Amino acid sequence: MPADTFVTRLNEQIGKEFAAHQQYVAIAVHYDAETLPQLARFFYRQALEERGHAMMMIQYLVDADAEVIVPGVAAPQTAFADIVAPVALALEQEKRVTQQINGLAAAAREAGDFTSEQFTQWFIKEQVEEVATMSDLLRVVERSKDDPMDIENFMAREHPGEEGDDPTAPHPAGAG
Ligand SMILES: [Fe+2]
Ligand SMILES: [Fe+2]
Repeated sequence: MPADTFVTRLNEQIGKEFAAHQQYVAIAVHYDAETLPQLARFFYRQALEERGHAMMMIQYLVDADAEVIVPGVAAPQTAFADIVAPVALALEQEKRVTQQINGLAAAAREAGDFTSEQFTQWFIKEQVEEVATMSDLLRVVERSKDDPMDIENFMAREHPGEEGDDPTAPHPAGAG
């Protein structure tokens, strides 16, 4: 069994990953409404990744016979001042999640729960990538905020579609 302190914190994190999913859907809808389909597509895809993270955490708890609490989430921000604001919010969110995941790893280690600590390792690596991706994107939208088509071209070129499957990723619940 995973340590109780870890189970409690992982259940909280499941809520935060679902909240991240909702926030990214809201951002995607915002860009869709602004007729920025490439930015919209990127955030719809990011949203799915966040849902995937939540489902991986659920699968871990199910496999460990630990209690899973599927939480409600707070409403996401849906109004944005300009084209830059959603990306700034996303970067802030990813930095916050990085702290949360590090906290999870620390809680597992403190409890001597090395299996759970190992489970957190993939997420630590994932956060490095997500913070880097959002930092790059923020620089691009800040530089080109007066020329949205420039940003759309960048998205089409640099983020054209699905990433390949990561064979080291934990299994998401319900994914077959
Ligand atoms: Fe996530
Ligand atoms: Fe993320």
